Amino acid sequence: VPEVTLISCDTTMPVIGMGTSSYPKVDPETAKAAILEAIRAGYRHFDTAFVYGSEQDLGEAIAEALRLGLVKSRSELFITTKLFASFAERELVVPAINKSLRNLQLEYVDMYLIHWPFKFGKVVSSMPVEKGVLLPLDIKSVWEGMEECKRLGLARGIGVSNFTSEMLEDLLSIAKIPPALNQLEMNPLWQLKKLREFCKAKGIHVTAYSPLGSSGTKFGGNNVLGSKVLQDIAESKGKTTAQIALRWVYQQGVSLITKSVNKERMNQNIDIFGWSLTEEELDEISRLPQHKTITFASIMGPHDVVLQIDAGL
Ligand code: A2P
Repeated sequence: VPEVTLISCDTTMPVIGMGTSSYPKVDPETAKAAILEAIRAGYRHFDTAFVYGSEQDLGEAIAEALRLGLVKSRSELFITTKLFASFAERELVVPAINKSLRNLQLEYVDMYLIHWPFKFGKVVSSMPVEKGVLLPLDIKSVWEGMEECKRLGLARGIGVSNFTSEMLEDLLSIAKIPPALNQLEMNPLWQLKKLREFCKAKGIHVTAYSPLGSSGTKFGGNNVLGSKVLQDIAESKGKTTAQIALRWVYQQGVSLITKSVNKERMNQNIDIFGWSLTEEELDEISRLPQHKTITFASIMGPHDVVLQIDAGL
């Protein structure tokens, strides 16, 4: 798997990561087995978040992989976790990452992200999240907490997720350490061209989550794999529709988080190198009708939203 260089933190990241946000949560043994299988398949980048409730399972799987010698040292892995909105306050950021590190049995994460661009008025430990109030984020003070995580060596890189260009402008105007990346819902049916151009111009890398649209989940529903255009391209190239979608994301200069608990599909999803989509195929995909499906509310349930965060995306 190729690596991307992240400008603001002088580190590299494998362009494909394995997601662990299964919800409803799978049982710990299944989750652990899937992570070990992914390591065997060649995945070295894993994505979790405090609120997924998957940090412990990932931590146990990493410890097991080291015991089994599937990886020789911790440094061969790239681990991302995220600050949940309940802890989006200056003095709660370092305690929150320390809690995540204990869950993960790690001394540092490779990337720590602000999970959502607002504060949530209740402390939660996992999904589903009870109804609560969403408040604007005091980005200056929260980012100081994130920068402290990097200074303390608890996170090698820091970044954000679900941020609009306006929110990034605010952040860039105060950041001493700029965000390394912005993790966003992105796939052929939600391409985010303007926001990606903005990020590129500012040196912020983009990582796509739900690259297959998370179809069939409770919160998502972009039927990427049902796209006739992608299916036809897949057939003509002897690839699967999922591979076409993932390869398209990669050819946009974007890294991606795929998710599968199935060995065959894990292998398929990592096998998107050594071939490419043509200009005509890229052009055809760029004209697909667009719609966004994932919002904080669709994942977490209805909330007293005092802030409209999806408008600018
Ligand atoms: P499974 O774990 O059974 O493979 P997204 O990354 O957009 O959230 O999509 C993840 C979903 O897509 C999972 O439910 C996963 O199911 C399924 N999936 C992952 N890879 C493939 C693939 N190559 N072909 C079909 N479905 C896939």
